[in-house]
Amino acid sequence: MRLTEKRKRDLIDRARRARRRAYAPYSGYAVGAALLASSGKIYAGANVENAAYPTGTCAERSAAFHAVSQGERSFEAIAVVTEAGGSPCGACRQVLSEFGPEMTVLIADRDGRLVRQLKLSRLLPYAFGPRHLKQR
Ligand code: THU
Repeated sequence: MRLTEKRKRDLIDRARRARRRAYAPYSGYAVGAALLASSGKIYAGANVENAAYPTGTCAERSAAFHAVSQGERSFEAIAVVTEAGGSPCGACRQVLSEFGPEMTVLIADRDGRLVRQLKLSRLLPYAFGPRHLKQR
């Protein structure tokens, strides 16, 4: 699937909208994510924190787990929106890599300005993946 300018814009818009629904009373760091599945559908997510801090989860993983539980197994791109274009955390890179090591990552700021665009494999080089479990 070609990642047209329109698709990129739509993804960033969806991530911006999801960010408004972030529940981040402890960190104050609201994140929105929107994942484009190979089916063409978009799945959004926001970070959801908790008074028991480690039980909260990131926006990217909210979006990925939602999409996978709807039957998706492969992704083309993700948009991540934060205040100033922050980078996805390591745990989210790992989770995303399972379902699309070559997906495009669009990092945008609160106004939807694209700060960085790169492949996930650049954010997580030499990733651990399903193939390693088959090497025994
Ligand atoms: N967070 C995300 O949602 N995505 C990231 O990639 C980085 C961190 C969230 C987790 C927590 O709710 C807040 O941002 C501060 O770490």
